[in-house]
Amino acid sequence: MTAWPASLRSARPPHKPAGTAPQGLGATARKDDWWSSPLGVGFWLAVLVLYSVFSALLWQPLFGAPYEAGPYLSPFLLPFFRDLGLPFGVSPAIVTLWIPVGFRITCYYFRKAYYRAYLADPPACAVGEPTIHRGYRLETALPFILQNLHRLFLYLALVLLTIHWVEVIATYFHDGGFRVGLGSVILLVDTVLLTLYVSSCHSLRHIVGGKLDCFSCSRVNRTRHSAWRRLSGLNQRHMVYAWASLVSIVVADLYIHLLGLGVLSDPQIRF
Ligand code: FES
Repeated sequence: MTAWPASLRSARPPHKPAGTAPQGLGATARKDDWWSSPLGVGFWLAVLVLYSVFSALLWQPLFGAPYEAGPYLSPFLLPFFRDLGLPFGVSPAIVTLWIPVGFRITCYYFRKAYYRAYLADPPACAVGEPTIHRGYRLETALPFILQNLHRLFLYLALVLLTIHWVEVIATYFHDGGFRVGLGSVILLVDTVLLTLYVSSCHSLRHIVGGKLDCFSCSRVNRTRHSAWRRLSGLNQRHMVYAWASLVSIVVADLYIHLLGLGVLSDPQIRF
């Protein structure tokens, strides 16, 4: 093994500390069903992610299920790219899908969820993990250092969220009059939940209130403090918003596909 020069030794990325849990996968003194939570999280996360990938990239090209119906467009697509005409029938969702995918993969909550469920890192509190993890360089080396891109994905997610709001509002004014359709309501609920998810982001909370030595020393700092406190309140429910917004986007997308296939009709009121 190559010895590091003394001058660089302190700069070496750390290995994962041993911690206080028993060593070895699943080793624990816990008597409860500690495995049920990572099992459930892993199962439902896989179901929702697989559906999303299938629906956004494959359902229309392979099986002809339309991405849009009436005034509604699948939340996996952006309006500017819906008619892109990519070669080999590639779905236009591919142009932007990497943004929400990257945002959720690097999300602090989802990191915890899939580290536990899929990497057993660790499987649960006070439960041992595979000893191979001792060589793990934390998030200071590839590939996990890429988790630090979360803030950049946040900026892009804020742009997508703004576009979603414009789209949702437009569904209420389709055909020149004001209307409320079940699809509009489903999309509105989805967009509100996405807004709560993004607003409760740990990284956003740090952008708004971080790197300040004094909250009360200027009007700008007091305003930032007030915003930071509000975001901190939302942040306590970040996990709830993460799941709720993931479920709601799947429900909204499924509803629009079923409308497009003629399986459902969209009840609506016109004013
Ligand atoms: Fe979860 Fe930023 S920490 S979205």
